[in-house]
Amino acid sequence: MSSLSDQVIVFTGAGAGIGRSVVSRYINEGARVVAVDISSAVESLRDEFGDKVIPLVADVSTWEGNLAAANAATEAWGKIDVFVGNAGITDAARPLEDIPGDRLGAAFGELFGVNVLAPMLGVRACLDELIKSQGNVILTGSYASSNAGGGGALYTASKHAVLGLVKQLAYELAPDVRVNGVAPGVAPTRLKGTGSLGQAAADSVLDGTREALPLQEVSGVDAYNEVFTLLASRVGTAAMTGTMVSVDSGLSIRGIGKPGGRVRRDGDN
Ligand SMILES: NC(=O)c1ccc[n+]([C@@H]2O[C@H](COP(=O)([O-])OP(=O)(O)OC[C@H]3O[C@@H](n4cnc5c(N)ncnc54)[C@H](O)[C@@H]3O)[C@@H](O)[C@H]2O)c1
Repeated sequence: MSSLSDQVIVFTGAGAGIGRSVVSRYINEGARVVAVDISSAVESLRDEFGDKVIPLVADVSTWEGNLAAANAATEAWGKIDVFVGNAGITDAARPLEDIPGDRLGAAFGELFGVNVLAPMLGVRACLDELIKSQGNVILTGSYASSNAGGGGALYTASKHAVLGLVKQLAYELAPDVRVNGVAPGVAPTRLKGTGSLGQAAADSVLDGTREALPLQEVSGVDAYNEVFTLLASRVGTAAMTGTMVSVDSGLSIRGIGKPGGRVRRDGDN
């Protein structure tokens, strides 16, 4: 039996990047998935996975978008076992001093709408079903959930809020629903920017990123599949709740002189 046999999963931010990769793994592990994204790119999952996936184009920063996702799962498959809040946008690490004061409110609303409000709305929309199924929630945090310098003030504050949400919801929903998170370091994707700051999508991997990582390797988008699968499974992580699992190539233990103790630099003998 596969680890997610018969599990029904509502997954946001499923159209690209980390989300698309994890959704593919979930289905290969036996799950059926409502795959939500604001981009119609999510619809191509149907060609790959047929009736094991319901692609849904919706804005998860709205209540209606989340309700539609929860309803799609219960109408098709009669239950929800797991909600994954993964959709996110970035501020492209823009410092606070470079954001005009009169645009800050709109930028905050937009970025927190996707990164913080959306997972709250998603959990709320799926909650009755999650309690019924004694299911679990997984939220995508970030290296920026616990550290500075992984984004600008808006993104970092929003991902710290995701960590707070994981802990608070784990408390509120125990013992019925487990709540955990995954905190990626750097993944090779093109996160959308904040429209109200005029930001387009941009590469997450920059010149010098690889060299800055203690493990000296930018992992592929599939580097998170195993952890997301373990957290979604009813067996492997039954005793885990309120935890943010770091998958950050060592970023949070990076050194001052060199990123990792055994990293070789030019001139080392
Ligand atoms: N790429 C990285 O280096 C990195 C690092 C740490 C954390 N993360 C987090 O990982 C998660 C996935 O990001 P990714 O890197 O795979 O980027 P991505 O842009 O490839 O995937 C994010 C998806 O969310 C969707 N989305 C954005 N706003 C939405 C909305 N309002 N409604 C519905 N869908 C929406 C996008 O269309 C996109 O398909 C995000 O939460 C991000 O903050 C990424």
